[in-house]
Amino acid sequence: MSCSVAEFAPLDPFGIEVRNVDLSTDLDETTFEQVEGAFNRAGVAVFRNQDLSPEAQIAWTGRFGEVERHVRQEYALPGYPQIHVVSNIRKDGRSIGSAYAGDNWHSDLCFMRKPARLSILHAKEVPHDDQGRPLGGTLFVNTADAYDRLDAGMKHRIATLRGVHQYHRAQEIKQRQREKDHPRAPLTTEQRAKTPDVSHPAVRTHPFTGRRCLYVNPTYTFGIVDWPEDEARTLLDRLFSHTLEPGNVYCHQWQVGDVLMWDNCSTLHKAVSDYAAPRRRLMHRTTVIGDEPF
Ligand code: OGA
Ligand code: MN
Repeated sequence: MSCSVAEFAPLDPFGIEVRNVDLSTDLDETTFEQVEGAFNRAGVAVFRNQDLSPEAQIAWTGRFGEVERHVRQEYALPGYPQIHVVSNIRKDGRSIGSAYAGDNWHSDLCFMRKPARLSILHAKEVPHDDQGRPLGGTLFVNTADAYDRLDAGMKHRIATLRGVHQYHRAQEIKQRQREKDHPRAPLTTEQRAKTPDVSHPAVRTHPFTGRRCLYVNPTYTFGIVDWPEDEARTLLDRLFSHTLEPGNVYCHQWQVGDVLMWDNCSTLHKAVSDYAAPRRRLMHRTTVIGDEPF
């Protein structure tokens, strides 16, 4: 048990950097509650210079709730079903993890009945350009702020709509995009059975802050319940461009040792795919199972 005084510094335009905590130790309850509260409000939290073993990352993640075992277990770190490897590294002719995961805007596991409350990504290897600048950054927008910015007419129009989220469709698109350099196995029958299409409220209430959040995204949301596909597409595209208006994006530039946490209700994120082999990127991801959106 360590007694540290966590410090919080704002990121631009949103998010926080948390300093003076070592996530490999068992944070005392008071410090944990401060960090959790600050994280719930901020949506994104960065912790620099951490060195977490798989066990320590799973333990840190587990303080927030039940740790998910991703449906694509072929990308799990061997021996650690809770750690999802995100990497472009190939070994023996196959990718060691999910390559270029999340390179379009999305929230994690929105296609599950109980989407991820939060995700934690720990940087093990980070690619750089020839000048030593980091590549492979991660972008974030705040969906609670995006909801607040909607005009009253649109808020009213979407108040009771439900978005349709389809994992298999997103995976088929991903597979086509990367079939040359990082072919993905199609979902097995069992994986497909675990990820039926789901619908969630297009506006959901944040379980900790009570804020309303726009809960649709361009990667997984393909429709609106009871709407014709073309009309749904038009409305969704309008909501996406509203959410992604410039000026609202936090861009995370990675350093090895970073632990980055994000809230999958109040944010969307996107990985920047501006690097390729022989440049290597290796991340360990854990996620916490959330409540059913309401
Ligand atoms: C993810 C993801 C972004 C990145 O792991 O869920 O979207 O930058 N990753 O690797
Ligand atoms: Mn993601």
